[in-house]
Amino acid sequence: MDGNGRWATSRGKSRSEGHREGARAIDRLMDASLELGLSNISLYAFSTENWKRPITEIRSIFNLLIEFIETRLDTIHERGIRIHHSGSRKRLNRKVLDKIDFAVDKTKKNKKLTVNFCLNYGSRDELLKAAQEVFLQRKRDQVLFEKPLKEKELEKFLYTSTLPPVDLLIRTAGEQRLSNFLLWQSAYAELYFTDILWPDFDKKSLVESLQWYETRTRKFGGLENG
Ligand code: FPP
Repeated sequence: MDGNGRWATSRGKSRSEGHREGARAIDRLMDASLELGLSNISLYAFSTENWKRPITEIRSIFNLLIEFIETRLDTIHERGIRIHHSGSRKRLNRKVLDKIDFAVDKTKKNKKLTVNFCLNYGSRDELLKAAQEVFLQRKRDQVLFEKPLKEKELEKFLYTSTLPPVDLLIRTAGEQRLSNFLLWQSAYAELYFTDILWPDFDKKSLVESLQWYETRTRKFGGLENG
């Protein structure tokens, strides 16, 4: 969800106002995803590297998250949306953790659409954590080096273990990099880059990205015609 800062500064507003407008774009994305019948969306809301930002900006993003959950959770739940969190719990304060846990627990049985908030998320951090957990699990089971490590064994310990791989990855605001986002899960994702700033991303933008996706031939390393 890149471009909140640029959206704000180009209008003489504060970066926090840009993030607030970014949260409104999430509302629109959830509406459009339900309408279009998407089953899973992941949002990169705060990365493990975003701690380098000024504390005032960090606070404004977490306050927005808290406000987002407080004001939208009932509607989200009524509409059959499941909230999922991907990311480390370390460094997140108790209030943020409690809000996320409450939202995740309340919506855990919902089936229509899963919205995966990647918050304090970084792919490298996730993969290191998963590797450590594989090691500890194998140690407990006393099978440390007895079998080669398979993808499924590692995937069980990813934050996204209950989610499908990424089909379409959209990066807004003209940047063309992955920035440590769902690297394992996006191994065969189609990558879509748009100059649209995140706060301006709307249903039309989503439809355009999906139309582009439809033109792609996905081969997963195989040949086009099998
Ligand atoms: C990147 O744009 C955006 C972020 C690091 C924060 C994203 C946060 C939100 C959309 C709002 C949070 C709300 C919820 C509900 C999680 P940028 O700030 O780097 O933009 P720039 O590159 O133009 O400066």
